Amino acid sequence: MPDDSPPQAIEALFAENRTFPPPPEFAAKAVCNDPEIYARASKDSDEFWAGEARRLEWFAPWASVLNWDSGEKRARWFDGGTINASFNCLDRHVRDGHGSQVAYFWEGEPGDERRITYADLLAETCRLANALRELGVKRGDRVAIYMGMVPELPVALLACSRIGAIHSVVFGGFSADSLRDRIIDGACVAVITQDLGWRRGGKIALKQIVDDALAGAPSVSNVIVLKRVGDPIPWMDGRDVWYHDIVPRQPAQCDPEHMAAEDPLYILYSSGTTAKPKGIMHTTGGYLTGVSSTHKNVFDLREESDVFWCTADIGWVTGHSYVVYGPLANRATSLLFEGTPDYPDKDRFWALIEKYKVTILYTAPTAIRTFMKWGPSYVEKHDLSSLRLLGSVGEPINPEAWIWYRRYIGGDRCPVVDTWWQTETGMIMISPLPGLTDTKPGSASRPFPGVFADVVDAEGKSVPLGGGGYVVITRPWPAMLRTLWGDHDRYIKTYWSRFAKQGYYFPADGCKRDADGFYWLLGRVDDVMNVSGHRISTTEVESAFVDHPNVAEAAVVSKKDEITGEAVAAFVTLKGGGIGSPAEADELRKHVASKIGAFARPKYITFTPDLPKTRSGKIMRRLLRDVMENRPLGDTTTLADANVVKTIAEMARTAPPEE
Ligand code: WT7
Repeated sequence: MPDDSPPQAIEALFAENRTFPPPPEFAAKAVCNDPEIYARASKDSDEFWAGEARRLEWFAPWASVLNWDSGEKRARWFDGGTINASFNCLDRHVRDGHGSQVAYFWEGEPGDERRITYADLLAETCRLANALRELGVKRGDRVAIYMGMVPELPVALLACSRIGAIHSVVFGGFSADSLRDRIIDGACVAVITQDLGWRRGGKIALKQIVDDALAGAPSVSNVIVLKRVGDPIPWMDGRDVWYHDIVPRQPAQCDPEHMAAEDPLYILYSSGTTAKPKGIMHTTGGYLTGVSSTHKNVFDLREESDVFWCTADIGWVTGHSYVVYGPLANRATSLLFEGTPDYPDKDRFWALIEKYKVTILYTAPTAIRTFMKWGPSYVEKHDLSSLRLLGSVGEPINPEAWIWYRRYIGGDRCPVVDTWWQTETGMIMISPLPGLTDTKPGSASRPFPGVFADVVDAEGKSVPLGGGGYVVITRPWPAMLRTLWGDHDRYIKTYWSRFAKQGYYFPADGCKRDADGFYWLLGRVDDVMNVSGHRISTTEVESAFVDHPNVAEAAVVSKKDEITGEAVAAFVTLKGGGIGSPAEADELRKHVASKIGAFARPKYITFTPDLPKTRSGKIMRRLLRDVMENRPLGDTTTLADANVVKTIAEMARTAPPEE
């Protein structure tokens, strides 16, 4: 393992050996209960994926299932086929007589409600698509989307895909700087946003943030603004257009573009090991195949009767794949919720599940641990008997949280599927199939049919069952990223160079496999932190620190956190070498939040006169992690000055975390 491998407090997790077989009544009726599916998919994966692609409707059939250029790492799935994502998510369901089925039950944070049928969603998507065309947006253009969880957000994604524009959704919690960087990188021609957004009873000035971002982003010609809250907002005539002025007057029909299977569907930025976020690019046919297949099979979806709730924001990949494209392609009825779990009170999720009779819940370990902290009384106030399946995603789930989730939310009745995947993979990669696979608390179990994974050592050699190392993906899969926007070299370097000889995709996660071949994902092995399921680059936070005029140097590590999984811990030296006051620490926290977004706000800041460096000047983050975890310091012999780290350990003990 490299210097920056995660702390291996994993033995306790691995000692977990409870096993829950699929409940017989569940298995009997499961969408996928044919144990041959694994063998069939590994015997002929092209045939398996072709079968899954047939659940979609293609304008023209594909000529080949997979062309893989192993040198350039370019995958072409379903080459020759033409398809449109919004057509598959909307038109065919309406045409087949399901126009009156609810696509989204929507509830706003203040409690306002809307129910949007497939017919409604199709009409609104067509209107917005026509509005985009009227503004001159063409096939292949990039459109940035910066919104809260309002119904017009999925409409915006679908409208782009309808006309072949590439959407670039930026999560509404990102700062103006982060939004600007992403708009510039994608050279977006338009932005879709809203006036303000609700957040825990307060308001977020989304349009104002867009204005700040656009100072310095000249590619944008138009901003479409949805009125959500109603407060006055800044306005630029000629550039800004009210959604309600341009959309309702459009025709409710709009011919979908016939896209090549490999035409880009979207770009979504994710943090890497450098300060510059990576524009992960997904294409159309393979992506839609992957998300529809996994959504159907992992969540055991019955479109006639289920109410599916993925609590992720559409601004993250989980929302792209399992709030928008997967569920809609499968004609699911979903719940879409604008607010947070604790507003107006800590039972909001459970009230929603009771009210909308949610049957499948997909949420994150950090949320589950928060609910555990609040205690079961909030849960027990509500009838959750509609639930029949629970999912988890975003970070490793500790067995305690898994068991709590199963017991208090799932009434010891619902299977729990822990799903491992990434922005890059586009779709769930390792997960139980709830009607087939045993589940073990803390393990994502085994690769999805047609997905080929392994656990390897530093040389790329497969580690025997019972051992640990790096998880790798050994063959292309349909929803894989195709490149990093504008930087194919970085794509090859980041994902394909670590195990170049073997030709494996490297997700940068540690993993153990038990004697049954179950995968236990252990967290990142690179400089990427996972805070509440959000990916944050240590380097990006360090850059934000040194951008402050008073900061000379900064080193950032993650510290284990009971609720958020990991927390951001920073060591900062000020210009002049002084020790900052609590007020200065707070000022720096604000600064980082304003550079990246509030979710990256550092919990711990330790001011130190110096940082522990090797003689060649490399900061030894491993030692800083030892300091934060109160562990004995590892090897310090390579340090230029071994005393530095002792001083730091003293100072870290006296620096209070932010609550
Ligand atoms: C990283 C990807 C996948 C959508 C949300 C996050 C970690 C994700 C699990 C899981 C253990 C997990 C990994 C991965 N991760 N799911 N079930 N068990 N770790 O997407 O922001 O691209 O982050 O999240 O470390 O590499 P992302």
